[in-house]
Amino acid sequence: MSINQPAQIYLPPPSQKGSVSLEEAIAKRRSVRDFTPESISQLQLSQILWATQGISNTRGKCRTVPSAGATYPLEIFVVCGRNGVEGISDGIYHYNIDSHSLTRHYEGDVRLELARAALDQEFIYQAPVDIVICALYERTAMRYGDRGERYVHIEVGHAGQNIYLQATALGLATVAIGAFYDESVREVLRLDKRYKPLYIMPVGRPASQPKIN
Ligand SMILES: Cc1cc2nc3c(=O)[nH]c(=O)nc-3n(C[C@H](O)[C@H](O)[C@H](O)COP(=O)(O)O)c2cc1C
Repeated sequence: MSINQPAQIYLPPPSQKGSVSLEEAIAKRRSVRDFTPESISQLQLSQILWATQGISNTRGKCRTVPSAGATYPLEIFVVCGRNGVEGISDGIYHYNIDSHSLTRHYEGDVRLELARAALDQEFIYQAPVDIVICALYERTAMRYGDRGERYVHIEVGHAGQNIYLQATALGLATVAIGAFYDESVREVLRLDKRYKPLYIMPVGRPASQPKIN
């Protein structure tokens, strides 16, 4: 941990109002594979993580994404590049859902390693930030047995779509990446075998504005 970086970074609270309508975000959503090197702000990262898995009702601890039996199998990691997010140093961070904060568990820019683990899809390295969604299957399997696996896979789709729509509404962009070597991604993220990576989603400013078909 560097001297200037606290162990836990509390993100600014996300907004529940925006200037882009849901319909507009759905219409404009596109997979983007070309990002500018500009950093994103902490507020933008906050908004993206909230949309991915954040709390939308503090009384009930409800989340922004549905979950079979509220078993919540997804864990979110942020691979932050050098100057990827304003005021946050490069490293791997875990998103703490209840406190809407980040905990760094590795220091350094691992985007290149992550891109290599994903068949050299270079936009993983180009984007300032990569969101990696992992699953702990046992949380859902404990309740639903074999059917739990299906539920986890459906759930990651909900989370991924929220990232797409939130990024679009913020003038940012993303692409859902499913092509990678699970074991290599897990090694890059320094995670134990219980964690299964399901999606890598680079987030950044699109180098050109996606067209509406
Ligand atoms: C499960 C899944 C896995 C995907 N994996 C990749 C990938 O590894 N690399 C990539 O560039 N795009 C990937 N994509 C994005 C698709 O290529 C993209 O959604 C598709 O071309 C349609 O374009 P659109 O998202 O702009 O509508 C994936 C999409 C899904 C749903």
